[in-house]
Amino acid sequence: MCYAIPGKILKIEGKLATIDYFGENRTAAALDIIPKHGEYVYAQGGVIVKIVPEKQALESLKEWENVFQELKKIDEQTAKTDETKFTREIRQAIHKANNSIPLSEQEIIGLLKTEDSKLETLLKAANAARQKQQGNACCVHAIIEFSNNCKNNCAYCGIRRENTQIKRYRMSVEEIIARADYAVNKLGFKALALQSGEDEYYDEEKLVEIVKGIKAKCGALIMLSIGEASIETYEKLFQAGAHAALLRFETSNKKMYEQMHCTSFENRIKCLKELKRIGFLVATGALIGLPGQTNEDIARDIALARELEPDVHSFGPFIPHGQTPLASERKPSLQQALKIIAAIRLSTPNAKILVTTALETLASNAREKALASGASSLMLDATPEKYKQLYELYPGKTTAHAKIEEEVIKTIKLLKTIGRAPTDLG
Ligand code: 5AD
Repeated sequence: MCYAIPGKILKIEGKLATIDYFGENRTAAALDIIPKHGEYVYAQGGVIVKIVPEKQALESLKEWENVFQELKKIDEQTAKTDETKFTREIRQAIHKANNSIPLSEQEIIGLLKTEDSKLETLLKAANAARQKQQGNACCVHAIIEFSNNCKNNCAYCGIRRENTQIKRYRMSVEEIIARADYAVNKLGFKALALQSGEDEYYDEEKLVEIVKGIKAKCGALIMLSIGEASIETYEKLFQAGAHAALLRFETSNKKMYEQMHCTSFENRIKCLKELKRIGFLVATGALIGLPGQTNEDIARDIALARELEPDVHSFGPFIPHGQTPLASERKPSLQQALKIIAAIRLSTPNAKILVTTALETLASNAREKALASGASSLMLDATPEKYKQLYELYPGKTTAHAKIEEEVIKTIKLLKTIGRAPTDLG
């Protein structure tokens, strides 16, 4: 968002650019914006989203230089750990991470079984692994939830087809483009997720119009979260300028998946692989705490996410919704959700891990806690206020009545306190 640092292009080879941020190098893809050597850019989620005029970049860098070094120091300090407290499982995970050996599912289960008395140690170890892999890089995306209509009937989801109690809404193409324009050009976001239920009202033509309309006005990474659209449609949307897609596999347990969805598990995995083949940056993950889910299931979820090699991991807690068949189930505790984030970090050390909005319903400090337990990026709800409370996938959405302008200020304050800087990581 407005919390963004321009980087200087050091090298550009084919579609891969090397970018300098105060002496630290990162890589980003040049997909439709091809900068020249020496030019300044904003990159987000690993994609170059905008060329920044030199004068503006230098002014911004001057403001950032001291702050950047200060943030780095804060993060290094907070990521310090007392290794003597590590359990055998944590020690083994770190040893394997350092030697690029993947953890087995059994070893992931070992982490998930960490006792409460050792939880803080596990979370700290994960934070240290994040710091070692990614420094203090952080990325803040905006999400615009543009329709709560859905043709599907997923057992856990508040906007399922059979929920007749919610008021349904659809934003017009113009409204979506205008809101994106506001989020990017007024609030400063550089990555924008567009999310909806699976709503056939938005056919390929409308979706392409939305993506092209946003691209024409905004230098930002567009991430689609529209479910299982056809591969042809996704291909057209990629060509139109949407370069990222968020689609969870929800659970790696095929039986559980098919009990809760109207669609097949194989199709979901096939769709995820196709998205990657097309060239999308892919964000995926699972729901934490589904009824009947075991540690074995979660370890398999983490392993499946690792196999799919997503650019972003998005694991969030299941929060029971009153108008669904799972209404009387329990939600997981914050501790359980944090433990899973830490296990993802230790088993996939270079992962970009998102703090999901659902996680933030578990406690008022959940965002901060997750960022200190291995997570590396955030998503803020930039849906227009009159709609955001109607986008009720789960109850208790903390931001249902929050103003995005205030959320931005609050988030920047938090990131400064914990020493995270907005470089190109997603
Ligand atoms: N609790 C938490 N997350 C939910 N989602 C849907 N319903 C719920 C719920 N009750 C998540 C799904 C979906 C994403 C858009 O929202 O994981 O992929």
